[in-house]
Amino acid sequence: MEKIKIVGIVGSLRKGSYNRMLMDAAIEVKPEDCVIEVADISQIPLYNQDNESEVPQPVVVLKEKIKSADAILVATPEYNYSIPGVLKNAIDWASRPYDLDVFSGKAVGLMSASIGQMGGGRAQYHLRQSFVFLNAFTINKPEVMVSFAPEKFDGEGRLKDDKTKEVVRKMLVNLIELARILKQSGKVFEKI
Ligand SMILES: Cc1cc2nc3c(=O)[nH]c(=O)nc-3n(C[C@H](O)[C@H](O)[C@H](O)COP(=O)(O)O)c2cc1C
Repeated sequence: MEKIKIVGIVGSLRKGSYNRMLMDAAIEVKPEDCVIEVADISQIPLYNQDNESEVPQPVVVLKEKIKSADAILVATPEYNYSIPGVLKNAIDWASRPYDLDVFSGKAVGLMSASIGQMGGGRAQYHLRQSFVFLNAFTINKPEVMVSFAPEKFDGEGRLKDDKTKEVVRKMLVNLIELARILKQSGKVFEKI
């Protein structure tokens, strides 16, 4: 069976990011029938509609990666009850111009890790809202919201919490299944 291609996007640029560790954990526990390639959003300049016709190279690369993938996997922190600017900026760039956006019809898996007790859930709901506009299909359950992140990863940045590993794995199973259904349908989901 052909492997499902997933592009990973991490909403934190920080060295030692728990969300990057969570993405690495997803790569570790992922089912065999998928590949996950993490995109680099660190070099994307601030979006300015005046520059939309001269798309910066890091945006070209990101858009190509998303376009050729069957699914998207986001791991993001929550910043001030929402998503970090770097992630929103990357999504905004990749969504433009409107008729050449790369998100429509894609399956999207969401994960968040936070040092606090809410696990970044509020950011995920803002992110879901953006994906509604972008006509992408986010996985509803299970929700991967990793609270008290410093307790869940070891000194080498590896996820050590078995329950969290299982939730990540189950979400990926659903993401792959949805991506396969969408791919096999061959349907083009147009935005009106
Ligand atoms: C600007 C800023 C805003 C933050 N706001 C929140 C927040 O609203 N909710 C939350 O749970 N954690 C918040 N935090 C703490 C993050 O959970 C914590 O910094 C986490 O480690 C960020 O993810 P990372 O490790 O992947 O960089 C905030 C951190 C920063 C730097």
